[in-house]
Amino acid sequence: MRDIAIVTGASSGLGREFVRQLDLGSGGPLDEIWAIARNEEALNEVKEACHTPVKVLALDLTSDDAFATLASELAGQADGLNVQWLVNCAGFGKFGTFQEIGASNAAMVKLNCLAVIEACSQALLYMHAGSRIVNIASAAALLPLPGLATYGATKRFVLDFTRALDAELGDVGIHATAVCPKFMHTKFLDSPGDHGALDQVLWIGFEDPRTCVSESLRAALRGKRVAITSPDVRIMNAVCKLVPTDLAMDLEGKIGTWYAQRSAR
Ligand SMILES: NC(=O)c1ccc[n+]([C@@H]2O[C@H](COP(=O)([O-])OP(=O)(O)OC[C@H]3O[C@@H](n4cnc5c(N)ncnc54)[C@H](OP(=O)(O)O)[C@@H]3O)[C@@H](O)[C@H]2O)c1
Repeated sequence: MRDIAIVTGASSGLGREFVRQLDLGSGGPLDEIWAIARNEEALNEVKEACHTPVKVLALDLTSDDAFATLASELAGQADGLNVQWLVNCAGFGKFGTFQEIGASNAAMVKLNCLAVIEACSQALLYMHAGSRIVNIASAAALLPLPGLATYGATKRFVLDFTRALDAELGDVGIHATAVCPKFMHTKFLDSPGDHGALDQVLWIGFEDPRTCVSESLRAALRGKRVAITSPDVRIMNAVCKLVPTDLAMDLEGKIGTWYAQRSAR
């Protein structure tokens, strides 16, 4: 039986960093890493940089046939598979009002939610006690955010789904961990949509993707349901639990407006 890791969104940013750290052995020994994203050239660069064999799967995870392809790749492994890690990183966010964002609202739901569900249901067929699922949510999951309504809700979905899934799987020794990072310097902000809406939430600040990944892997190995990988977001999460949601939203809006005005000066 071969131990593999499947990483979606592996062509850049956080997903690429997960592949790098898994390749270095941070998640235990692996026979192969399956790297999934649309950009085949970038995936091949990831493969070149790894010591572990990498299987490149250039798939658009919002297309109808992507998960049929993944299913047949999984089923076609003659020597049997143990999916030791599934890391769902593929995702994108558009800033702006719900109406401004238009068709990207549904596209975000497809990639950030549906693809996570599909990947989990397929990978679980090949998981055993000790296997781990890491689903990337966001600090945006912690509070409803005007200007980021759909993205925040998709990440809340990932957070709640992952917690419940972990509770369901505990008896069989498989754990699922939701990760809630704040902003990171990746391609995520390359085409954010409305810059005004982005400026409104930038007060939360940036964290280092390398630290986010190492802490996520450590949390997953310890069987933690949620990994909030920066200390100030942990404090924000504690405040959000104590304060009524509407009040927390008002407060967040005021901080955002103050921060955006100060940055524009
Ligand atoms: N960076 C941040 O500030 C931040 C903060 C909190 C949470 N997050 C979350 O972190 C995760 C990783 O994002 P990132 O920061 O690493 O951004 P990124 O550099 O833009 O990476 C996104 C990845 O998703 C892949 N992807 C996008 N659309 C896809 C599709 N239709 N099918 C398959 N793969 C697709 C991209 O590859 P291709 O373009 O090659 O398909 C890329 O590998 C996302 O879920 C994001 O929501 C990011």
